[in-house]
Amino acid sequence: MTDSVSEAANTVTVGVLAEQSDGERRVALTPAMISRLARRNVAVVRAQDAGATAGISADEFAAAGATPGDPATADVVVCVGPPTATDIDRLRPGTVLAGFLAPLSEPDRIERLNKAGVIAFAMELIPRISRAQAMDALSSQANVAGYRAALLAAQHLPRFFPMLTTAAGTVKPAKVLVLGAGVAGLQALATAKRLGAQATGYDVRPEVADQVRSVGAQWLDLGIEAVGDGGYARTLTDDERAEQTRLLNKAITGFDAVITTALVPGKRAPVLVTADAVREMPAGSVVVDLAGESGGNCELTTPGEVTTVDGVTICSPLNLPAEMPGHASELYARNIVELLELITDPAGQLTLDAADDIIATACVAGRDQLTWPATDDQAPTEQEARR
Ligand code: NAI
Repeated sequence: MTDSVSEAANTVTVGVLAEQSDGERRVALTPAMISRLARRNVAVVRAQDAGATAGISADEFAAAGATPGDPATADVVVCVGPPTATDIDRLRPGTVLAGFLAPLSEPDRIERLNKAGVIAFAMELIPRISRAQAMDALSSQANVAGYRAALLAAQHLPRFFPMLTTAAGTVKPAKVLVLGAGVAGLQALATAKRLGAQATGYDVRPEVADQVRSVGAQWLDLGIEAVGDGGYARTLTDDERAEQTRLLNKAITGFDAVITTALVPGKRAPVLVTADAVREMPAGSVVVDLAGESGGNCELTTPGEVTTVDGVTICSPLNLPAEMPGHASELYARNIVELLELITDPAGQLTLDAADDIIATACVAGRDQLTWPATDDQAPTEQEARR
């Protein structure tokens, strides 16, 4: 045992699960973040296989102070993707779990966690407020996805992205259109621009225009604004959608590559690239659709596949952050440690304060085990505690 582990006898321990889903190569804690926890006397137990696919060796984990062992024995268990039913059944009542838990799309898992007495935090529900920015795993992973989406477009396009002047002639830069300029879209624009393409961004949130221009891209203004709750986009009305389709169908034909990232929380992704628009694109053009898991922004998308329609390549990668597991894990691990520091005090004890809006919002199971304010009128109703 290292000194940090023995000193940590009275502090929480953290277990790192091995990821089980197909293609998932990220890990929830990296050596740098394990060292940061060790400085708070928090010991880390790592499943034997955790982290190998992220390119992190057992020696690096050991040097940071993580010991191989059974993560289910720890007080706090962390993961990237949701744990399997077998993993959940091995957790003890009162264990804290943090990871992407898909609470909205897979409620059965949340029920299972509740039955197991696990206190679970869904990283996708961390509120998008300033205080929680360092824990915002949706944003950290969307950045990776946007970057990889631009690389995918460049890889599939049978043309250069940059302008080139060579002895054999001059090559014009590729024209790249990004539909949906949230976190992933802005990174896709910035990456396409860095690769030398002419980048253009479009969104229904007008405040995004300045952010698009700030990464050196042009703003496509279609005159349709649709801002809903919490600053997110709302679903368009039928008339707005018809107008958007008409204008986008015209605009899309002028681009070599279209990268789509548009999502509306809790709803099917909007269709922005119709079958007609694809058929009007010149052969060799590329569509990269990041919204495949939510139904796709392109009408002809097959989620998880690369297909060709009339010479246009349509890629719909699923879980792009897992394809760049090194940095994706580093960023995610930082998000996780920020959350762990929120739910532990400097002495390394759990402080699950339900009055904290980050804790209250992200907790999807075991809410009755949070520390609720003492006064009767502030105590949770049964419905609140179970939400
Ligand atoms: P997202 O992944 O939910 O959606 C991606 C983009 O698609 C958004 O920009 C959205 O406006 C756009 N979109 C939706 N429907 C569309 C349509 N029909 N046509 C064109 N575009 C459409 O968004 P993301 O990246 O998760 O961020 C969304 C919100 O979260 C924004 O309000 C952003 O400012 C906010 N945010 C706040 C943070 C904070 O810490 N304060 C951090 C990150 C995001």
